[in-house]
Amino acid sequence: MTSRQTSASGLPAQPGGRVDVSAAALTATIRATRTGGTWAAKYQTHIGGIFDRDIRSWDVAPPPEYFSELARISENQIIWGGNYFDLPPTRCFLVWRKINIPAEGFSMAPIEYAWTSFSGNALYFEASSASSSKEKRFHPTQKPPALYSWIYGLFARPGDKILDTHLGSGSSRLAAYDAGLDFVGFEIDKVYFDLQEARFEQHAAQVSILDTMGPSYYQQEALWDETD
Ligand SMILES: C[S@@+](CC[C@H](N)C(=O)[O-])C[C@H]1O[C@@H](n2cnc3c(N)ncnc32)[C@H](O)[C@@H]1O
Repeated sequence: MTSRQTSASGLPAQPGGRVDVSAAALTATIRATRTGGTWAAKYQTHIGGIFDRDIRSWDVAPPPEYFSELARISENQIIWGGNYFDLPPTRCFLVWRKINIPAEGFSMAPIEYAWTSFSGNALYFEASSASSSKEKRFHPTQKPPALYSWIYGLFARPGDKILDTHLGSGSSRLAAYDAGLDFVGFEIDKVYFDLQEARFEQHAAQVSILDTMGPSYYQQEALWDETD
């Protein structure tokens, strides 16, 4: 289920009670540094219209009540951009290393940090943040579905319900679908909301076509990917 509601008003009304993992994808307000930089300039003026959305409209830190609501309705939390928020110490943080971004001397950050409520060692995942040959990005902070697949593989159990209060491109939703997990998502921006709906429909249709072709087809697909 997805909805176009603000997280603050949406959270208490969740159907089905508590969720098991909230994979919230947030970004903080750091207008002085972020929106003045190359990154923001690029994404506010991108040719083609879709990246024309001004990130200052949503690049704002949620109020403290958001985090207490999240903790109230979810068993565990994973909060991307957690380095910008006032969260408790954690040993089990996650790092996404963007392998297409040089480790140093580049305008975009080569890694992103997620705070988690889990115990255990810190973990990292390596994946590109660039568009794939199969799919173009439409959201300025679009994460790869593989990142969420990795997260669900680590932390979700069969039957869990995932909540993403800041859906963006809907990558978390795609990965939840693939993992057979229940999913609830919110996205406030109508353009992003509609685009992630279309992306999800297309993905679900593709998966269902592949399902009818049997496992050997998946193997062939994987082989083609490696030799592209
Ligand atoms: C950092 S992006 C999420 C990117 C996402 N992880 C992805 O892979 O595409 C944050 C998203 O949250 C949305 N947003 C901001 N405030 C919101 C709110 N109060 N409720 C729901 N969505 C919100 C923004 O429109 C934006 O698309």
